[in-house]
Amino acid sequence: MKRKKICELLKGSSQLDNVLVKGWLRTRRDSKTFSFLEINDGSCLKNIQVIADSTLDNYTEITKLTIGSAVGIRGKLVKSQGKGQDMEIQAQSIEIISLAPESYPLQKKRHTDEFLRTIAHLRPRTNKYGAIFRIRSELSYAIHKFFRDKGFKYIHTPIITGSDCEGAGEMFRVTTLKPDQKIKKGYVEDFFGQETNLTVSGQLSAEMFALALGDVYTFGPTFRAENSNTSRHAAEFWMVEPEMAFCDLEDDMDLAEEMINFLITHILDNCAEDIQLFAKFVDKKLMTTLENIRAGAFLRLPYSDAVDILRKSGKKFEYEVKFGKDLQSEHERYLTEQHFKKPVIIYNYPKEIKPFYMRLNDDDLTVAAMDVLVPGIGEIIGGSQREDRSEVLVERMDELGQFPGDYWWYIDSRKYGTVPHSGFGLGFERTLMLLTGVKNIRDVIPFPRTPGSIEF
Ligand code: 4AD
Ligand code: MG
Repeated sequence: MKRKKICELLKGSSQLDNVLVKGWLRTRRDSKTFSFLEINDGSCLKNIQVIADSTLDNYTEITKLTIGSAVGIRGKLVKSQGKGQDMEIQAQSIEIISLAPESYPLQKKRHTDEFLRTIAHLRPRTNKYGAIFRIRSELSYAIHKFFRDKGFKYIHTPIITGSDCEGAGEMFRVTTLKPDQKIKKGYVEDFFGQETNLTVSGQLSAEMFALALGDVYTFGPTFRAENSNTSRHAAEFWMVEPEMAFCDLEDDMDLAEEMINFLITHILDNCAEDIQLFAKFVDKKLMTTLENIRAGAFLRLPYSDAVDILRKSGKKFEYEVKFGKDLQSEHERYLTEQHFKKPVIIYNYPKEIKPFYMRLNDDDLTVAAMDVLVPGIGEIIGGSQREDRSEVLVERMDELGQFPGDYWWYIDSRKYGTVPHSGFGLGFERTLMLLTGVKNIRDVIPFPRTPGSIEF
């Protein structure tokens, strides 16, 4: 007989004979003639209550069941008499699959996020982390659904690459050379015969496919060796990168806005119970924040105007605000949280602070870049219209110290039927932080990788 998931059983309200449920014991309460077990199987936040009556053969063992023990229950699903749950199971038999010792760390009490990070292998068994990872799964599905409904094709771009797309040099090297190996000829002796890294973005590859299939996206792991221990950066994270042919910066901003709204709606509709947990215990303003984002259009503002607003704000920032300098998290958050109190898209950034692939504007000073900033997070999306003119592209590479020879294939794509095209990268974990109100990126990643930390 196949086990039923608790989420399915709790959805209905009709009585069912002979159901089988398997899960882990969350709590147990004994009376003279009954034992009440709360069982969770991870399929949803809720437990199912099981009533074990003293006539069961192994009743003595049942009354010794410890928290975290695994059990299989066969019985009758009935409407519950008690308060707080709709359905419960009257057990006909209970199989004790395994007993957890009393030292099980997740006893019924609140644990701090910091402590739970030290037991990352067990934390998905708690209500909060179970909810995070169910939402994470649903969000992945929502991303594919969004693009599929729009006719975008999913492209698997390489994880191991030879290019530094962002030009920031924050890459992890991939090599088969031994640490103490004496190298005479440099990278040619290495596995791929050239310098090789884990990808920081699938964009350059995705562009090649946009110029063939029209609208495409990648969605996969990316890696950055930024040695900044912040609550919003991970060394390994997932990025969603759409790329559209025949599309300018404005179309790009439209897609970004539509996508964020779609993802919020999808999660509110499909993960209501899990989201409620965050609205209650993690961020009391969560629902207002999410509803506000959906309520109106995102504000769109050129970078130079953002600089003016920040300079006139009278706020003391740690980092100086000046045309030509990148906006820091404190500036981004001031704009979206305090000044406009809604998502803001900043566009047309100075060319010096942006990568070679962004399209140079006619002013020769700025590029057609855009960043989407949201309350509580700051930058959630970075994107641009791409430089589609090969001569300008090569000039920009020279200016930024990139060697055009390394990107011959990228430049080559502009020779044959080059077209305006645009795309962006959405930080998947930052989106999860927005949706749950969780403040540290380490807590939305199953096994986070950050500087000095790779235990699990
Ligand atoms: O702004 P970024 O660096 O843009 C790109 O990589 C472009 N190639 C994307 C494109 O146009 N196809 O990164 C995009 C987003 C950021 O806005 C942020 O949300 C997220 O990726 N991100 C990180 N998330 C977690 N940890 C990090 N270290 C991140 N770095 C960027
Ligand atoms: Mg960025």
